[in-house]
Amino acid sequence: MTLVQKDSWGSRVGLILAMAGNAVGLGNFLRFPVQAVQNGGGAFIIPYLTCFLLMGIPLLWVEWSMGRFGGRHGHHSTPFILHQMDPKRALWKYIGVFGIFTNLAVASYYCYLESWTLSYIWHSVVGTFQGQSAEEVAAFFGNYVDVGTTTTGIPYESIIFWLLCLALNTWILARGLQGGVEKVAKIGMPLLILFGIFLAIRGVTLKAGEHGAVYDGTLGLNFLWTPDYSSIWSGKVWLAAAGQIFFTLSVGMGSIQCYASYVRKKDDIALNAMSAGWMNEFVEVVLGAAIIIPISIGYLGIEKVVEMTKTGGLGLGFRTLPYLFTQWGPAFAAVAGICWFGLLFFAGITSSLAMGTPVMGFLKDEFGWKHKPAAWFFGGLVLVLGLPCVIWFQEGVFDEYDYWAGTVSLVVFALFEIILFAWVFGMDKGWAEITTGADIKVPNVFRFIIKFVTPLFLGFVFFKSLPTIWDNLTKPVPWQVWVGRAILITLFLAIAWFVRVAYLKRKKQLDHVKP
Ligand code: PHE
Repeated sequence: MTLVQKDSWGSRVGLILAMAGNAVGLGNFLRFPVQAVQNGGGAFIIPYLTCFLLMGIPLLWVEWSMGRFGGRHGHHSTPFILHQMDPKRALWKYIGVFGIFTNLAVASYYCYLESWTLSYIWHSVVGTFQGQSAEEVAAFFGNYVDVGTTTTGIPYESIIFWLLCLALNTWILARGLQGGVEKVAKIGMPLLILFGIFLAIRGVTLKAGEHGAVYDGTLGLNFLWTPDYSSIWSGKVWLAAAGQIFFTLSVGMGSIQCYASYVRKKDDIALNAMSAGWMNEFVEVVLGAAIIIPISIGYLGIEKVVEMTKTGGLGLGFRTLPYLFTQWGPAFAAVAGICWFGLLFFAGITSSLAMGTPVMGFLKDEFGWKHKPAAWFFGGLVLVLGLPCVIWFQEGVFDEYDYWAGTVSLVVFALFEIILFAWVFGMDKGWAEITTGADIKVPNVFRFIIKFVTPLFLGFVFFKSLPTIWDNLTKPVPWQVWVGRAILITLFLAIAWFVRVAYLKRKKQLDHVKP
């Protein structure tokens, strides 16, 4: 019996906002500025934009069209979408495992990060940071992620907020695409943009001498926007730029394919993909760059900020900004705190919801699960997988998940999928998939780019990163990190096993149907 798939998007605006919500995430506001600062400000922007044009845009079209193609055949997660594109080879469905693995593993640390924003909204409202010194605000963060310490008097505070955040995600997912995900995107995205514009104006208009600022906000902007050609040949900068493009657009994850698989057969994807992709770039390059960088550089100067980003990316957003906000007086600090952490929360939740859907799609398609149990199963799994990140945050398990699932896996998966799309499925069929129902004319040059430039570029990025990957594997780490690695490997193998079971089940059904 084939199940009739009833899930679909309610409206075009809803779809675009949900897809933009998928892309716009904590990466736009926390990861991008830090990557830019670490890689030389203006020196980062040229490789970044090049990667967007030559890898980001092509992969968006490829993933959207793969998704719609898969949905047409009743598949909503990558193992069987990839299998459908080349049914003769056994390999692809196992490559597709990445598209479930990555979502689960990233959700496991991402939801924890997302839950901090809830707690920080609370602390901004009650004015916790008022009158604290810069050191105290920074130490507050250290205490917060130290599970045993409480900052509000609630024991295990960080765990409580995390559970709350997970429950909220699961509850929304259980309400379905239209009633849950789409609704949240329709409310969250406009609010996020509003809050972002407000804070960006504040950042850009910051004046030296006002409220204790040492430099104009424009100092930070100039640092970022003055092109610097000196590092144009630096492999490290290119890798960082490519990594950021992947993470921010959510390509190489499997979540775009899943969302796109709920698009109707003949609906446009060419323009939709561009709308969501460019919206993400606006939020990242315009808003994401105009808040944290000008404000922190305005108070601390370029050198200090560059120094601070070396100890990890999240620092500035949670350790420093709340302190800088208090310089503007209690009322403004509360408003700025609510806007900043509220914006982060909406950015986060519209992304973590996207990570749930491929897992649920897989369970529903292959094992006939109902929607609600699938959602709760996802929530439960993230709880179990996330626990090591929460408990051993300081030992580096969180960063380890981010490195393997949120960085390396994306490049590996994207490399395989572009080869499948352009060379196995074939560019003729591929181009037809991209352009069917298109509301814009996709420039012909992208046929060439998708076939040659993107795969070569991706292959280059991958091989260039091999030494770094090796260094990471061989450097001494606490045993907890090894536990984290073991969990990730087990997770991958377990999903592969389920894919095999599902495949055999399908085959048996087919053999049954055949005379
Ligand atoms: N693109 C999101 C961000 O910028 C992260 C994300 C990754 C979302 C994978 C969905 C899937 O934060």
